Amino acid sequence: MINRIKYLRISLLNSCNLNCFYCRPPQQENDTYVSKNYTNYQNSIKLLHTLGVEKIRFTGGEPTLYKQLPELMQFVKKTDPNIHTAMTSNAILLKKKAEQFADAGLDSVNISIDTLKAKKFCSVTGRDKWQDMIDGIEESIKYIPKVKLNTVLIRGTNDDEANDLIQFANRLKIDIRFIEFMPTKLNSENSEQYISGDEIKKRLPYNFVSTKNDPSTAARYLSSPDLDIKVGFINPVSHSFCAMCNRIRLTSDGRLYGCLFSGASFNLFDSLEQGYETASKEVHRLIAEKTYKGCSRKTGDSAFFPSFVNMGG
Ligand code: 5AD
Repeated sequence: MINRIKYLRISLLNSCNLNCFYCRPPQQENDTYVSKNYTNYQNSIKLLHTLGVEKIRFTGGEPTLYKQLPELMQFVKKTDPNIHTAMTSNAILLKKKAEQFADAGLDSVNISIDTLKAKKFCSVTGRDKWQDMIDGIEESIKYIPKVKLNTVLIRGTNDDEANDLIQFANRLKIDIRFIEFMPTKLNSENSEQYISGDEIKKRLPYNFVSTKNDPSTAARYLSSPDLDIKVGFINPVSHSFCAMCNRIRLTSDGRLYGCLFSGASFNLFDSLEQGYETASKEVHRLIAEKTYKGCSRKTGDSAFFPSFVNMGG
């Protein structure tokens, strides 16, 4: 058993139908990497579940672009119906596909929404697809058991929309989380656009009350008598949450990482070719070396990877 590690995030591909500047900067707009070998994912899931993984999140790039995703979700549920199956998506394709994913066993989806303004959506993502996102959110609520919204707040871009986004989520009766803009190798020139979760919270017109938090989630959820939903803050830059970390990450080129802010990794797809025992030993070694050190702008640490589009947002 890999003790506290229970949550696997799989970046299925590094292509996306949006080009959000903070996630997929211009240098990477044409990058497309999709693992050809679907069985690599099946074998990785089988092994990591045996070692203790209880929750799997599909990310990307944009995971809905991965053709065999419904099949892979079915595989997860066949392996063990108790594995919580989640996805992070920009919702552009969910108007068409939400029902299909729900039928395949998807338990929850986190949808990225950075703005309620169609024009601003275009300037953040480089694509005129705001309405597709909105339709995708509405369709997901119809079919997928749990839907949450994620917003990366960026100073001077969308930090003025925090309350409008809360009101939007409140009308739909789904929780929303604000995520601090994190540094990566390719977006550090935008670092003056960082704004802390605490600063956002101070500006909001609610009497927030802390709620009982699931200790393994990165978000701190608050409620308010004026809202039917919870508002979550994910503050990886201003507050380290390494102490409760229970996750590992697999990228589309087969590398397994213990932490966003450590380059330590090995190629799980390659080592699975040597058999489960060899692969299992390497997983244990990676986990044992996990440092729980985390990211902090104050100490100048920044991610070792180019951007989230490679690592899974
Ligand atoms: N900082 C914080 N979150 C990011 N994401 C992508 N890039 C960043 C970044 N620089 C996350 C967001 C988004 C998801 C797709 O990836 O959560 O909603």
